[in-house]
Parts: sequence; structure tokens; C-alpha cells
Amino acid sequence: MRPRRTAVLVDSAPRRVVPRTIGVGSTIAGLGCYLPERVLTNVELAKTVDTTDEWIQRRTGVRERRIAAASEATSDLAYKAARESLRAAGVAATDLDFIVVGTTTPDMVFPSVACLLQKRLGARPVGCLDVSAACSSFVYGLSVAHGAIASGQAETVLVVGAETLSRITNWRDRTTCILFGDCAGAAVLRPARPGHGFLSFCLGGDGSAEEAMCLTAGGSRRPASFETVERGEHYISMKGPDVYQYAVRAIPAAAAEALRRAELGPADVDFVIPHQANIRIIQSSARRLRVPLSKFFINVQRYGNTSAASVPVALYEAVQAGRIEEGRVGVLVTFGAGYTWGACAIRWGGAC
Ligand code: COA
Repeated sequence: MRPRRTAVLVDSAPRRVVPRTIGVGSTIAGLGCYLPERVLTNVELAKTVDTTDEWIQRRTGVRERRIAAASEATSDLAYKAARESLRAAGVAATDLDFIVVGTTTPDMVFPSVACLLQKRLGARPVGCLDVSAACSSFVYGLSVAHGAIASGQAETVLVVGAETLSRITNWRDRTTCILFGDCAGAAVLRPARPGHGFLSFCLGGDGSAEEAMCLTAGGSRRPASFETVERGEHYISMKGPDVYQYAVRAIPAAAAEALRRAELGPADVDFVIPHQANIRIIQSSARRLRVPLSKFFINVQRYGNTSAASVPVALYEAVQAGRIEEGRVGVLVTFGAGYTWGACAIRWGGAC
């Protein structure tokens, strides 16, 4: 589970470079974002748990995070981000052929958030799928959506990353509650002009360290009961240093592999949208990937780790800030419980 092993796992992915001409390419035609209003600062948090603003900022880079209102569930956040992404892409909900939602915090076990979203958006009765790959879920969702377009099953696909992690956070556990936040980001994928859009994907998973980051109760192994609640097993449990050690190797390895599959190298990269888990993980990933940190978009200081929403929200803000222009080449890369990781190379723009 430690360093050497991570490298082997990522390296053991298929060696073959998938030709970029297979099927129709796809790209991001529009983005959306929703941030709950409530801001919880470190200073405020330090009044309820034994920590300090200084400790949190130094170890994680986080200054504050958003917390969903009591009336807001994950599908409410997802809906607002999705609406904006549809407007930005210039498509109607009735144009959607497939709805994919990445989330670790669905409104309920079933039906899926994607189904709830289909109804709320007024989409046709198209395929609806929740992707469960923890923080990697959005990049996994992009891969599923890209595959649907490339294979001709869909033309317009909505991919959302939405989380209400505050609902599964133990606010008395200072080792985890400082890290997480709530929000949602969304992307509409459409066919791309040749040479634009997604150039490669690299997904990975390693279930050998399930206890490093997990939420044990509420599933079929340990159904929710009075006892599981009393023991706090419905909250995120994490071995922070173990997760850290794995992440700093898996993230750059996945990004490098996505670049290799696109026949690109670090010098070709104009921007990187990393999973916003911890500023030190991002800094270490930049060094290992040999891409200047200035090319990494960072907003972890404002939102903390928002799991599946982290990459789409960062991507949204990077575009809004003018950091990503048509034709620029970038990498989206993420990492999460499982462990899971995912990266893709993209040449920005080119929607048909
Ligand atoms: N405030 C103050 N002290 C804290 C604290 C907090 N919020 N949380 C932990 N500590 C203390 C610990 O009790 C420990 O004290 P000790 O030395 O007396 O035992 C000390 O700080 C160091 O703890 P440690 O867990 O080794 O700190 P760290 O430098 O590894 O930072 C994390 C902890 C969680 C910030 C870091 O491990 C991390 O970011 N891991 C990755 C988590 C992650 O990204 N998860 C999601 C992946 S998608």
C-alpha cells in the first residue's frame, strides 16, 4: 500500500495507447457550479473542536468550507449546478441523452441522484446513473460519458459531481472534520471537433486498503442500527497519513499515465485541475509530475475537500478566471477512497 506499490499499480494499467480516432471525440461544452451560502471558517470550527486556524492552514491549506443548508440535499446542489451547465452549453434539459452523477452522499440509497435530477430538470426518460468512486467519481463519470458519446449511444451527456459531506462528517473528530465541505459542479459533454476534447483517460482502483478511508455502517455488511449510530460508524473514518502517502504517488502517476496515453509529456501541459484534498498533496504532485505549480488551479483554501465536486468546481473557477482558453491542453486528476484514482487529458473547447 505504500509508495513502491502505488507506482506498480498505476504502471500495470494497459500499456497500449488507445488510438484517439476511435469513435466520436467528446468535449466539455458548458460548466456549472453551486456553492451553498453558509461559510464555515477555521476560526469558527476551532470553537467547537480542539484545533486552530493555524494548524489547519499549515497542514491542509484549508481556510474555510461551505456547508449545505438543512433543507438542501445532494440533488438540490446538483440541480443548481446542472441548470447552469445546460445554460452555458446552450442546450435544453430535453436534449440530454444520458445523466451521470458522481457522489458519495446520495439523497438516499435509491433511487439514484441521477434519477432525481432527471425528473427535476424535466429531461426525457434517458439513462440515469450514479457513479460511486468516492472523490474520483466525477472523472470516472466523464469517462463513462465520453464512452457513451464515442460509441454513438449519446450525443449530449450531463455529468455532475455533487456532495453534502457535512452529513457524513463527525464534527467532533478533529482529524476529519477540518477537511471536508459541500458543493456541486456540472459539465455538459458534446461531440468534439477532431483533435479537441478528451484525449485520454486513465482510471484505477486498489481495494486492498479499504479501511484507510471508509464509512462502514448503513450498507449490507453492517446495516444501520442504534449500535452503529452510537459507535459513530455512519461517519467518515480515515487514516489520514496513510491516505496522504498513497495520494502523493497515485495522483502524479495517474496524470502522467493519462498524458502518456495522449502521447503528451509534462512540457505540453498548460493547466492541471487536481483534486482539492490538501495543498501539500497538490504541491507534492506538481513536483513529481514535473509541471510547475503555477499551472495547477487551487481553491482548496475556500472549499476544503468536496470529494466528487472538487474537480468540476475547480475547473469551473479556472475557466471563469480565464486560466483555460480554447485549444489549451490540460489534465484533470483525482484520487479518493477505495482507493480510486482517475485522470484525463483534454484539449479545451471544440464542441460541435
Ligand atoms: N488540529 C490540531 N491537531 C491535530 C488535528 C487538528 N485538526 N488533527 C490531528 N492533529 C494532531 C494529531 O493528533 C497528532 O498529534 P500527536 O503528534 O500528538 O499524536 C498531530 O496533529 C499530527 O497528526 P497527523 O495525522 O500525523 O497529521 P498530518 O500532518 O498527517 O495531517 C491530515 C493530517 C489529515 C491533514 C493529513 O494526513 C492528510 O491530509 N491526509 C490526507 C487526507 C485526505 O486527503 N483525505 C481525502 C482523500 S480524497
